[in-house]
Amino acid sequence: MITCSAPGKIYLFGEHAVVYGEPAIACAINLRACVSVEVASSGKITIDAMDKRANCSSEEFKYACCAAQIIKKLFETDFGAEITIRSELPPRQGLGSSAAVTVSTIKALTQSLGIELDNETVAKIGHKVENEVQGKASPADTFVSSTGGVVLVEETKTSHLAQLDMPIIIGATGVERATRDVIASVSDLRKKYPSVVSDVMSSMGDITRFGEQKLAEGDLVSVGELMNINQGLLESLGVSDVTLSRLIYAARTAGALGAKITGAGRGGCVLAITTNGKVDHVTQAIAKQGALALTTAISSLGLHVEA
Ligand code: PMV
Repeated sequence: MITCSAPGKIYLFGEHAVVYGEPAIACAINLRACVSVEVASSGKITIDAMDKRANCSSEEFKYACCAAQIIKKLFETDFGAEITIRSELPPRQGLGSSAAVTVSTIKALTQSLGIELDNETVAKIGHKVENEVQGKASPADTFVSSTGGVVLVEETKTSHLAQLDMPIIIGATGVERATRDVIASVSDLRKKYPSVVSDVMSSMGDITRFGEQKLAEGDLVSVGELMNINQGLLESLGVSDVTLSRLIYAARTAGALGAKITGAGRGGCVLAITTNGKVDHVTQAIAKQGALALTTAISSLGLHVEA
């Protein structure tokens, strides 16, 4: 049996805009998905996740199933497999749980088949899987999950920024949503008001560029301000909602330097950054609103094979 694990991610800046070619900054976090694989020469693909079992006819585990189908096609091979998924990441809530499961599945399957792939190649195959399942996806999630660290995502390339040491507080609403539905609603808005939405996307791109500079200078106050402006623009696209706004304002009132949604929005999670001294305060303020509050940090550890 081969077991691989990979981290989830948060977006400091630029989700949604990244789908339209603007840059974004995403970071791997210390919450991981873990996938174990037992390959057989033939037979079905069976998935076992969080005490639920299913085969590939189930919609529920479509990322792992699609990953297995793409590996079969790419390497012109056939196999059966028992895939077991365990994850610390709440699913469908903007923390990149699907990407972490996807790249861990690809790595564990290929290792089991004796195929050696580097993490960037796994990320590219993972991106194909996400495109197939979601309709449209940026390469950000699978790249960040595969390589770890802080990543600048641009239209045709992804590159690492310096590692950052700052506490990250996540508020998970527990409201699950399909990323593709939220992307589709933004796309509809863009078709209706092309020049307005293009300007919003391009301002988000500017925020990411300023953010990159402020991160390099270690100016977390400005990073927080830019996150707050980014949130205003996400609001304008209709991807925030009242529950997310409550969490964001609770975090800011408790002393967060910046707070915004992370990922597609319309449910899912918010993210706050703060100084070390205010972590408990901000965490409690988020929990008080009824959300699951998780304190985490940026992880430099990407996809890897567990010992
Ligand atoms: O909510 P998530 O983790 O699926 O992130 C979606 C982020 C988008 O920018 C909306 C889409 C993407 O693929 O980058």
